[in-house]
Amino acid sequence: MNRTVTYESNAMQPAARNGELVPAPAICLEPFEIGSVPIPSRFFFAPMAGYSSLALRLALRELGGMGLATTELVNARSLIEKRQKAFELAETSAEEQPVAIQIYGHVAWEMIDAAKMCVDLGASIIDINMGCPVKKIVKSGGGSALLCDVDNAGSLVEAVVQAVSVPVTVKMRLGWDDATPTAPELTRRFESIGVAAVIIHGRTREQSFMGTVNLPGIASVVAAAEKIPIVGNGDVRTLFDAERMFRETGCSAVSIGRGALGNPFLFRELDLWAKTGDPGPAPGFSERVDLMDRHFHYLVKLRGERTACTQFRKTLAWYQHAIRAPKALYHQLINLPSVARFDETIAEMRKSGPTGPLPSHFEPKIPTPKGPIDKW
Ligand SMILES: Cc1cc2nc3c(=O)[nH]c(=O)nc-3n(C[C@H](O)[C@H](O)[C@H](O)COP(=O)(O)O)c2cc1C
Repeated sequence: MNRTVTYESNAMQPAARNGELVPAPAICLEPFEIGSVPIPSRFFFAPMAGYSSLALRLALRELGGMGLATTELVNARSLIEKRQKAFELAETSAEEQPVAIQIYGHVAWEMIDAAKMCVDLGASIIDINMGCPVKKIVKSGGGSALLCDVDNAGSLVEAVVQAVSVPVTVKMRLGWDDATPTAPELTRRFESIGVAAVIIHGRTREQSFMGTVNLPGIASVVAAAEKIPIVGNGDVRTLFDAERMFRETGCSAVSIGRGALGNPFLFRELDLWAKTGDPGPAPGFSERVDLMDRHFHYLVKLRGERTACTQFRKTLAWYQHAIRAPKALYHQLINLPSVARFDETIAEMRKSGPTGPLPSHFEPKIPTPKGPIDKW
């Protein structure tokens, strides 16, 4: 279908070639598996500590189009020490399949035990984090510190691969810095020891979240793999960004983090675009309110009324940006005393409608480290 684009571009990427919708890469229609696990679409929800909670993952998954979700990173040692916070982070549910639980650490036996626990908790895939740039995690030898030591990283990952029956994937960055682009070498090593896929964020640890994603860097990781799928990650906010990621890197799937917070309907749009050539209409007011409603109620179910009322504040400003509800109703949700009050306010919002035109997507404010040694 050759439709003129109605989507706004983000500031970093051109919106379309010649104002026309670009076709989805043919690969998007091919069946896809990670190890033995069938993956229904090639658009993944990237792990984001503090954001990609089970409540949000369930609410987004219901919109359709999400191939695979990954939990926020979970400390292997905290899991085996049975800390409640670790169990909350690793929590998943029967409706959430396939799902990867992401663990990090640097001690082999801890990673093995934690991975086995994650399988019992419902993980269809174990994802090992080797990309996290945060000081606290790197200092302990986990996250992106492992990028510096190919042998050590290889042995750690191999121990996990051999210990669990589900596929093991690794999420990493291109290397520690520009002078040490270890990701292709690590990918070859991981493939040889049975890793089922690599998810590559096209930045170095030194870059943290600065600059733009390095697509040739991701392509070099794709070139290093013989058979396993490589999942491209970084700065995908629109379907044009996704198309470019596939085209310029040759990756098998795309993982999306911040872009999905800015446009939660992105997976559905990408999947429709892959299947029909058209992302479908932008979601209207009531669909956006439905999403907010479901997200909140999942949170209540999982964490109880009090915690849900406080935790939901964090995402309220984004929803408000997307639905443009009357200010007074928005303020009612900020100081939310109960679920009943939420339900009343949502009903009022549905009656009132938006106060102005709705944006197709926006750039949510998400704090990221400004430099590699920033405290975060
Ligand atoms: C707030 C925040 C938290 C993150 N937490 C994790 C994490 O727990 N595990 C992980 O592998 N990557 C984490 N990341 C990195 C993202 O998964 C992703 O690689 C990065 O944001 C680039 O993709 P994007 O441009 O689509 O957001 C985090 C990123 C952000 C912004």
